[in-house]
Amino acid sequence: MKLEVNINNIEETEQLAEILGPLISGGTVMLLKGDLGAGKTTFAQCVGITLGVRRRMSSPTFNIIKSYNAENFVLHHMDCYRLENSDEDLGFDEYFNEQDVSIIEWPGFIEEFLPDEYLSVTIEKTAGDGRLFTLESNGAKYDSVLEALQNVIPSD
Ligand SMILES: Nc1ncnc2c1ncn2[C@@H]1O[C@H](COP(=O)(O)OP(=O)(O)OP(=O)(O)O)[C@@H](O)[C@H]1O
Ligand SMILES: [Mg+2]
Repeated sequence: MKLEVNINNIEETEQLAEILGPLISGGTVMLLKGDLGAGKTTFAQCVGITLGVRRRMSSPTFNIIKSYNAENFVLHHMDCYRLENSDEDLGFDEYFNEQDVSIIEWPGFIEEFLPDEYLSVTIEKTAGDGRLFTLESNGAKYDSVLEALQNVIPSD
C-alpha cells in the first residue's frame, strides 16, 4: 500500500509524526529515504519524541547507530550514509529483532542487511518548507499501519 501526504511546514511534519507514533510497535523497521536535507533526521526526531524518547536525538551520521530508550521499547536510529561503497555488517541482525524499533536513514547503503518487511518513507522537498511524504508498506503488518494512518490523517 502507498500513501502520499503533503506537508506545508515543519509543524505539519511534527503532526504527521504524532499520528504515526502510536501506530509503531516493537519490531517495526522504518526506512527514511530522500536527498540530503530532505528532513529524514528531523522526522526521526519528531517520531522519537512521540515514542517517549527523552534524550535529544542528534544525527547519527558519525556514529551510524544510536540507541535510545523509548517508552515501550529501544529505538535504534541509524544513518548509513557513511556505509556507501562498504559492505560492512555492523551486526544489523541483532537490531532488526521482534522487540526493538529501527529508523534508518540512507537504507540503500545496507540493502543486503535489511529485513524483508518494512515501512518505507520517502521525503521530497516541495515549495518553501513543504515536503511530500510518500509512505509505502512492505508486508501485511505495515499495510495495517498505513490503513490506520489513512483513516486518521486529515485530508487536503
Ligand atoms: N516540513 C519540514 N519537514 C522537515 N524538515 C524541514 C521542513 N521544513 C524545513 N525543514 C528543515 O530542513 C532541514 C532538514 O534537515 P535534516 O537533517 O532533517 O535532513 P536529512 O534528510 O536528515 O539530511 P541528511 O541526508 O544530511 O541526513 C532542517 O533544517 C529542517 O528544519
Ligand atoms: Mg539526517
